[in-house]
Amino acid sequence: KIEQSFGVVIFGASGDLTKRKLIPALNRLFEAGILPDRFFVLGAARTNMDDEEFRSRFEAHPDFLRHCSYISVDYHNPESFKSLKNTIEGFMKRINSNNLVFYLAVPPDLYIPILENLSKAGLNRKPARVVIEKPFGKDLESARKLEDTLQKHFQEDQIFRIDHYLGKETVQNILVFRFANFIFEEIWNNKFVDHVQITMAEDIGVEHRAGYFENVGLLRDIFQNHMLQVFALIAMEPPSSFNGENFRNERVKLLRSIRPLPVKELENWIVRGQYGRGVVNGKEVPAYKEEPGVAEDSNVETFVAMKLFVDNWRWSGVPFYLRAGKRLCRKITEVAVVFKKIPHSIFAGVPSDELEPNTIVFTIQPNEGISLEFQVKRPCPGMFPQLLSMDFKYENYFGVKLPDAYERLLLDVILGDATLFMRRDDLEVSWELLDPVLKAWEDDPVRFSLNIYPAGTWGPKEADLLIERDGRKWRKL
Ligand code: BG6
Repeated sequence: KIEQSFGVVIFGASGDLTKRKLIPALNRLFEAGILPDRFFVLGAARTNMDDEEFRSRFEAHPDFLRHCSYISVDYHNPESFKSLKNTIEGFMKRINSNNLVFYLAVPPDLYIPILENLSKAGLNRKPARVVIEKPFGKDLESARKLEDTLQKHFQEDQIFRIDHYLGKETVQNILVFRFANFIFEEIWNNKFVDHVQITMAEDIGVEHRAGYFENVGLLRDIFQNHMLQVFALIAMEPPSSFNGENFRNERVKLLRSIRPLPVKELENWIVRGQYGRGVVNGKEVPAYKEEPGVAEDSNVETFVAMKLFVDNWRWSGVPFYLRAGKRLCRKITEVAVVFKKIPHSIFAGVPSDELEPNTIVFTIQPNEGISLEFQVKRPCPGMFPQLLSMDFKYENYFGVKLPDAYERLLLDVILGDATLFMRRDDLEVSWELLDPVLKAWEDDPVRFSLNIYPAGTWGPKEADLLIERDGRKWRKL
């Protein structure tokens, strides 16, 4: 149980994120007995409604809901923030604390007006903190503009940029696996590793989020944040400690070591796709362009595959193949570290290049766990190796349902621990890497036309070629 009383003000309280993630996460923390006796959750949005109506939107413990109330605000009106301030001050007195969090669960065009009005009302004073969700801008320039506004009104240690992947237990476990064990770190480099594959596949389509997705596309939606953050944890150097800035410094240092993509021959390094009609989980589904809210001639990508190199001593020459997409065969997020093949086979009739290499697989979700694939002797006359997998599954060992990423991250915000949040330089580095790609796509839509793939497959064939050209294959998932 945490001691510190706190207040959370959620802007965008009538929206999707509040209903699907934020209130359920706070409610679970409450039910688990982790929240202190005194706290409040104040929902704020444009809609007019009273506390009762606000509470009735959520399935949560009645005792938790008693801590929740609602206020309607006009995000563009400084006067409205004055009355918000009065309400907040009343609540703060009641809980006898100044530990205050503002959560911006609103569309990004509202970030700047809200930040400015918070500041005008004097609500930006420490120890107040502000949490923002992606998209953190559309490109490097707009990200910098947003950051400038943020930093005009709040100091860096007040700003919490969420990437919910960093809140996942299985993503954090990459760090424990690497840095709490001795034997793996010794082989975590270009002498032993042949390549790395990261897959973030979803079976769902764009759902009801066309308005958002049409402006963003998959590269910004997944690669700019989740993909690069997971990539960084797999490849970074050991920090001297986890908490504080050391970990974030190493993470950003790794991102800075990624070799820029060569715009001249971009086709060989990155593939963009969009789903057509197809069958997913036995159900016929429409093409992306037929989804409600999507333009008939939309040029927005729902799939990206990419090859990256890290230019440092540890990883020199090791390709990292990354792919993510919507409406693929199934939901699975995994990282596979594929080791080199044995140099020579002593078994007659079994050439070394036919022996599948050792692979360490982190299954981030679902069926969370870690596997080590290795060869064993098939029990039969002769010497015939066979690849097996030694599996650790969270479910079998810990038996508990893993907490949602938002539970961990909200708790960290309440406690003021920014370790698992992105820093300004995380964003800048990721935009520096992706900006040239976005520009190239925009400038030459013919050269970079979309590869349409049937829903329910593993993406366009060009994505297979991307890796097969190097004599490798995507893992069968
Ligand atoms: C979000 C993206 O950040 O992550 C969504 O905006 C995506 O498009 C989601 O579906 C995936 O998250 P998870 O936790 O379900 O893998």
